[in-house]
Amino acid sequence: MDKILVTGGLGFIGSHTVVELQNEGFEVVVIDDLSNSSIDVLSGITSITGKSPVFEILDLKDIQKVQGFFKNHQDIKGVIHFAASKAVGESVQNPLKYYENNLNTLVYVLQELSVLPTSNFIFSSSCTVYGQADVMPITENAPVKSAESPYGNTKQIGEEIIQDTCNVVPNLKAISLRYFNPIGAHPTAKIGELPIGVPQNLVPFITQTAAGLRDCLSVFGDDYPTPDGTCIRDYIHVVDLAKAHVVALQRLLSGNNEANYETFNVGTGVGSSVLEVIQSFERVSGLSLNYKIAPRREGDVIQAYANTTKANNVLGWKAQSTLDDAMKSAWLWEKQIRNL
Ligand code: UD1
Repeated sequence: MDKILVTGGLGFIGSHTVVELQNEGFEVVVIDDLSNSSIDVLSGITSITGKSPVFEILDLKDIQKVQGFFKNHQDIKGVIHFAASKAVGESVQNPLKYYENNLNTLVYVLQELSVLPTSNFIFSSSCTVYGQADVMPITENAPVKSAESPYGNTKQIGEEIIQDTCNVVPNLKAISLRYFNPIGAHPTAKIGELPIGVPQNLVPFITQTAAGLRDCLSVFGDDYPTPDGTCIRDYIHVVDLAKAHVVALQRLLSGNNEANYETFNVGTGVGSSVLEVIQSFERVSGLSLNYKIAPRREGDVIQAYANTTKANNVLGWKAQSTLDDAMKSAWLWEKQIRNL
């Protein structure tokens, strides 16, 4: 029973990953500053797995607290690092918050791991590092393009910080997972996404519109060079994504990694347009969604979907859920939290 630290473990992807780690028998310690998550998520996790992870409220920006934490938990075998801010628009308004939250904290954690006899680290990266890739589907070898936002920049610089550290710390092994678009919720509807305020992402906006919290979904642009004119993304069920973290960690723990630092795309390999996502929602919910075509949103790429061959072959992981499965779980979750 290896002890694994999950930072940001009460967030959307973090909480689903804690569930999958516990299901695999890992002993999980969660830290979270609750800045964008709720303590209630802990009982959701416990209810699904029958086991409560150890939990501490901890702000990773406080270097002394980070040092104290690792002193008290010297037996940690691996860290999955989710704790970060993730709102693209806010990052443009407040870049220093993003550089401090996402990069200072990463440095503090890596400093602690660098002095351990062995350490294994999984980083939440994003397909945003590719920008508008020239070739679809996107492989890990696609060039990293200059970031569109401070948020995106923190993912690129974060990867570089880890790579540079792995180059000189032989005991540190790390994997960056480049997520495509995580959506959905646990099929039990006990945990899911909890956006604060007006959702910026497509799927929570759809489910909130259907639940009556929003009047109408704006489809940002229908004049893109795609088959139906709307943007294409690779939407991955959050439970599949969570499982990718577990297999990546197991790869490091078992010493099967080929290099000290590796990157993997985590997506389904299937691109879906905004209109196809709406159709999927309507199919699984039996509802008709109120939406309208609106102008393009600044900063959106036309299309991004993953070539998942590396993750499939090297990690032995493959997304299992369809878009309909994911939309069904997102709607079940929305209905549960709104008492519908
Ligand atoms: C966004 C971020 C990305 C981040 C990811 C995290 C931007 C430009 N990109 O990805 O960096 O890693 O979230 O989850 O913000 N859409 C609508 N109407 C809406 C909302 C979205 O039409 O109300 C469309 C968008 O134009 C896009 C698609 O839906 O084509 C997906 O949007 P979203 O869920 O925000 O994800 P990304 O923009 O792909």
